[in-house]
Amino acid sequence: MTSPHVLPDRPLGIALIGTGFMGKCHALAWRNVAAVFGGAHHRLEILSDATPESAQRFADQFGFARATAHWEEAVSDTSVDVVSITAPNGMHRPMAEAALEAGKHVWLEKPMALTLGDAEAMAATAAAHPDQATMLGYNYLRSPAFQSAHMMIRDGAIGTPLAFRGVYDEDYSADPLLPWSWRMTHEGGGLGALGDLGCHLVSHMLALMGPVTEIVAQTQVAIPTRPSPDGQKPVENEDSALAMLRFASGAQGSFATSRVARGRKCRLQWEVHGSEGTIVFDQENMNELWVHRAGEAGFVRHLTGPDQPDFAAFCPAPGHNFGFNEQKVVEARDFLAAIAGGPNAGPDFAHGLEIEKIIHAMAASNGQTIRIERRRP
Ligand SMILES: NC(=O)c1ccc[n+]([C@@H]2O[C@H](COP(=O)([O-])OP(=O)(O)OC[C@H]3O[C@@H](n4cnc5c(N)ncnc54)[C@H](O)[C@@H]3O)[C@@H](O)[C@H]2O)c1
Repeated sequence: MTSPHVLPDRPLGIALIGTGFMGKCHALAWRNVAAVFGGAHHRLEILSDATPESAQRFADQFGFARATAHWEEAVSDTSVDVVSITAPNGMHRPMAEAALEAGKHVWLEKPMALTLGDAEAMAATAAAHPDQATMLGYNYLRSPAFQSAHMMIRDGAIGTPLAFRGVYDEDYSADPLLPWSWRMTHEGGGLGALGDLGCHLVSHMLALMGPVTEIVAQTQVAIPTRPSPDGQKPVENEDSALAMLRFASGAQGSFATSRVARGRKCRLQWEVHGSEGTIVFDQENMNELWVHRAGEAGFVRHLTGPDQPDFAAFCPAPGHNFGFNEQKVVEARDFLAAIAGGPNAGPDFAHGLEIEKIIHAMAASNGQTIRIERRRP
């Protein structure tokens, strides 16, 4: 199946920075996007990782032509048009700004930056390069079930949205013996659960409900120190956060996120209560939507299939299920469409800044109401 999106008509040169969880996702997406959606097969030019050995090993594994342990070489390489950045959060700003200054399009993993000030500076750099596309890695916006729910709410299937109830919980930090890492510091990770998980929930919430005007929130460091080779070291950022919100529409919201929620693996779960019905989604069951319409006795299960956006490009049969990495292939397609001059379908750096404003307001609220200033259109 070919994509109705207009994609670049020539192969682009790709640089990839980082080869961990997200590095492999980006590599798979770059290798598969043309096979799934048509268009040019892009050139995997150069891969950068922390050491020369790992850079070479993963360049061989992922199919990149060259390897370097110096990311500056990758972002300034003249054969490169697009840079995929999947390094730890503390490197996002220097890497993204250097790539933009070198004339490249930038696909950057979330969160955008360590601080709101850094995110504002990055949005300004992107605005100064209007011919270069930017995109942030909010992959959960791309699942067929989410896209379908988004269209249903937009088209009034549940009437007027009255309330959003959202949670994003995982338990990857629940074990107090988990060693201390960069993720738990302001300098390496920035925010904690809000920057790692909560920002994804905000991306869903804004898409479904529109802008937020007011937030009151509290955060918690549940496990204050972690073991390291130098002894116990402090955890600097939040393990969990709770918030209440008001949307510009007048609707209300509740929001919770935790990285220490025992038993939860990827519980990006929300429901939207509308005047005529309710829609429920949970990423742990990402191939299902549960929909109730006024007058029905209960909820109806909508199983993912080719009637939902982007499913049929991968598989013709309903119920055969869509996966995490396939979301990233859709994201690559959307990024390529933006590079080809189409509208930016996902959070670019300007929209990403709106997400950062919300998570940083939640981190700073400490029980006080914070008003969110809206971006001028
Ligand atoms: N979109 C999502 O669903 C999702 C999921 C997980 C992580 N992330 C984000 O992706 C980013 C990376 O997270 P991860 O889980 O893949 O981490 P990871 O630790 O698995 O991978 C990080 C990679 O960066 C490399 N790296 C470190 N320093 C480098 C340098 N100076 N030059 C080049 N490469 C360097 C490491 O060698 C490693 O390959 C983070 O910003 C994280 O928030 C997003």
